[in-house]
Amino acid sequence: MRTLIKNIKTLAGISTERKLRLQGAEMAHLGQIDDAWLLVDGERIASFGEMKALQEAEIHADRVVDACGGTVLPSWCDPHTHIVYAGSREGEFVDKIRGMSYEDIAKRGGGILNSADLLHTLSEEQLYEQAVKRAREMILKGTGCIEIKSGYGLNTADELKMLRVIKRMKETLPVKIVATFLGAHAVGRQYTQPEYVNLIINEMIPEVGKQKLAEYIDVFCDTGFFTPEETARILEAGAKWGMRPKIHADELASSGGVEVGVAHNALSVDHLERMTEHQIEVLRGSETMPTALPGTSFFLNMPFAPARKIIDAGLGVAVASDYNPGSTPSGDMKFVVSLACIKMRLLPEEAINAATINSAYAMGLSEDYGSIEVGKVANFFITEPIPSINFIPYAYTTPIIQKVFLRGEEVR
Ligand code: NIG
Ligand code: FE
Repeated sequence: MRTLIKNIKTLAGISTERKLRLQGAEMAHLGQIDDAWLLVDGERIASFGEMKALQEAEIHADRVVDACGGTVLPSWCDPHTHIVYAGSREGEFVDKIRGMSYEDIAKRGGGILNSADLLHTLSEEQLYEQAVKRAREMILKGTGCIEIKSGYGLNTADELKMLRVIKRMKETLPVKIVATFLGAHAVGRQYTQPEYVNLIINEMIPEVGKQKLAEYIDVFCDTGFFTPEETARILEAGAKWGMRPKIHADELASSGGVEVGVAHNALSVDHLERMTEHQIEVLRGSETMPTALPGTSFFLNMPFAPARKIIDAGLGVAVASDYNPGSTPSGDMKFVVSLACIKMRLLPEEAINAATINSAYAMGLSEDYGSIEVGKVANFFITEPIPSINFIPYAYTTPIIQKVFLRGEEVR
């Protein structure tokens, strides 16, 4: 099946050099063609060009879609989510309004542990249904790749249950999904901290590895959760099963997460709200993508990651939603892009690159996703007619999407 999209006002997010990530000043450049067409062959992008040079008869399209002056962008890639969770936690939302902090709630035994208690009571089927609903909402908002973490099981059986749900989502949804094992999200209620770390290393990781349920491994390396030493032990155990780290670092304090992540060749270090100049230097020269989660800073009223400084230091930045029940119950990547501009001072081009090519890199997918490039998977959306690319983050609550294509097929 060959699909021609024509009358595109701006085809944006074009790349031609097969770059897997963008760094520093490169991030301010978003490849664009005005008045364009795009040809999809099967699941992949076949070619594109300017309307004035289009020889429609030579293209042999089976189907022609008129973009009617809409803009085309590569689908958002969301490299950090926790969308497999049970229920919701709006009670804690009100506790936070009344003055409690995220840490206070965790210390009294709430937060992640509340979600784990609830997840324990749900069947795999119920959990799948709840998670699919969230994924579908994200798809309709333009997201084409999603990383999903475990981490609300906190015992071997329930961690495996979560990962099986993610596996089923991979098989049934048109969106591209990668799985991350986050047993080290909090200490399960029935264990001491050392017992739980040993359980992760000796029981959970080998089982996840044998059943091939996760590509990546994560640890919430922060004060009150897991230390850099515990993190290192867990990451080393994961590496034996080929699970590369993507870790939670420097959210609550500058606590060694970036250092241990880079030392273990993490694909990404995420959060970074409390990172300092020192961690920027630690990241320099590494393969690790610093990933900011501005929705979390917004929702928890916390500092934002120093993404501007990171880019000015010549490094790349990705952004993700962190969609989860406690610190940001939203998977709206357009809003994340707006927050990146408004609160972290990224230019619209930088924010869009952070939410597409660099976020594809942060989930190990930028060979095939994250930009409009011949040969890449045809994941993109067509907007309603908009005045310019800058309008996307500027109109921060206006829905802009007209049509969504995933793997070359229209899904909305
Ligand atoms: O990324 N910080 C750790 N984990 C999640 C929150 C999980 C929760 O509160 O349920 C996060 O913000
Ligand atoms: Fe998270």
